[in-house]
Amino acid sequence: MDILLIGSGGREHAICRGLRKSAQVGKIYCAPGNPGMAQIAECVTLPPGNDAVAEFAEKNGIGLVVVGPEAPLCEGVADAVRAKGIPVFGPSGAAARLEGSKDFSKAFMVKYGIPTAAYATFTDPEKAEAYIRSEYAAGRGVVVKADGLAAGKGVIVASSPEEALNGVRECFAGAFGKAGYRVVIEELLEGEEASILALTDGKTIVPLVSSQDHKRQLDGDRGPNTGGMGAYSPAPVVTPALMEEVRRSVLDNFLRGIREEKLDYRGIIYAGIMVTKNGPKVLEFNVRFGDPETQAVLTRFDGDLADTLLKTANCELEKADLIWSPEPAVCIVLASGGYPASVDKGHEISGIEAAERDGAIVYHAGTALKDGKLVNSGGRVLGVTARGSDLREAVRKAYEAVSKISWTGMQYRKDIARRAFNR
Ligand code: AMP
Ligand code: GLY
Repeated sequence: MDILLIGSGGREHAICRGLRKSAQVGKIYCAPGNPGMAQIAECVTLPPGNDAVAEFAEKNGIGLVVVGPEAPLCEGVADAVRAKGIPVFGPSGAAARLEGSKDFSKAFMVKYGIPTAAYATFTDPEKAEAYIRSEYAAGRGVVVKADGLAAGKGVIVASSPEEALNGVRECFAGAFGKAGYRVVIEELLEGEEASILALTDGKTIVPLVSSQDHKRQLDGDRGPNTGGMGAYSPAPVVTPALMEEVRRSVLDNFLRGIREEKLDYRGIIYAGIMVTKNGPKVLEFNVRFGDPETQAVLTRFDGDLADTLLKTANCELEKADLIWSPEPAVCIVLASGGYPASVDKGHEISGIEAAERDGAIVYHAGTALKDGKLVNSGGRVLGVTARGSDLREAVRKAYEAVSKISWTGMQYRKDIARRAFNR
């Protein structure tokens, strides 16, 4: 079976590597892919739009299309491919609104009894501002969220009423494009976060192993939010009892919801969870694998990934055999100088081979080839990932590998997974 994989980040490199290990897989095309993926697959450039993907898949006899990022899913790429009778791992455009519209997602959660922060949605800035004032007057903090996709931005966790009010003004001033003209204002939750990813084909829902992201730029969870500076799996905050509760209150209700709403959902559902003192609450749904959680999670997957994703695409998930290594995994993100505000690009990267010599895996994200040399070309550049007999060993191996890699301006957090040790 030949596969077409859409995307170009560290997440897609991890998926690509997993697919490559499957004996039944022939060619893997990555659109557009990255230099890391190019070592194990064939990178192709497709014109923009869903039709180009569907036509490429048809012309090349593709047996499975796997979609990495949310944007093409929200544009309905899965529908276009499915219309050609080709199996696709990824929800329909209608179902992808669970990530594409926070208002839609919150209404879905409330309707199906999925625990989440209290919220209200506004299209009128004055009403939004009045609501924020009344929330603070009642002693509650808020989070301001642009309704639509905002490339990981568009969420303002306010530390003061002024910050929340500014957030609303920014949204309506067009800081997040049309994504921000509708605003969700949510109760500020406190607790520890975890990521629960689950496969579903609309009939069955199967959680993957737990993980935890590190969203802030700097050690000790300081600095601005980023796309994610590192991840590890499993997350000890997700105890077996908590997982059971998430399964019951989040995943089972999610499955019931997509069935009742007749949403064609065959892919991954990512629940960002806040473990509050009143139990787990969903911060957000994403309709795709998390990045960098996937780099840690799939590094622990010892099953047949192509078979698993194909069975999900064909509504036969109950027949899939998910095999997990008990060994924890850690992914350290190496980012460009200036990230997340701006990105200092174009510097030659050295040391990847040395880093991989002792068994670490270096996933590419923001890399490019320039005059035959590998350079940094994006905010998050590499995801250095290692498995170990225990979490400490995995962390030690990952940082040992990181120490071999360098380029001008490279930055990374030194405390990935520390929260697990502090428990
Ligand atoms: P989201 O894209 O909705 O996950 O938001 C990004 C990040 O903002 C989350 O990972 C949390 O760290 C934070 N966040 C989102 N919603 C809330 C909330 N209701 N309370 C506290 N923090 C939140
Ligand atoms: N790691 C957060 C995300 O993928 O949205």
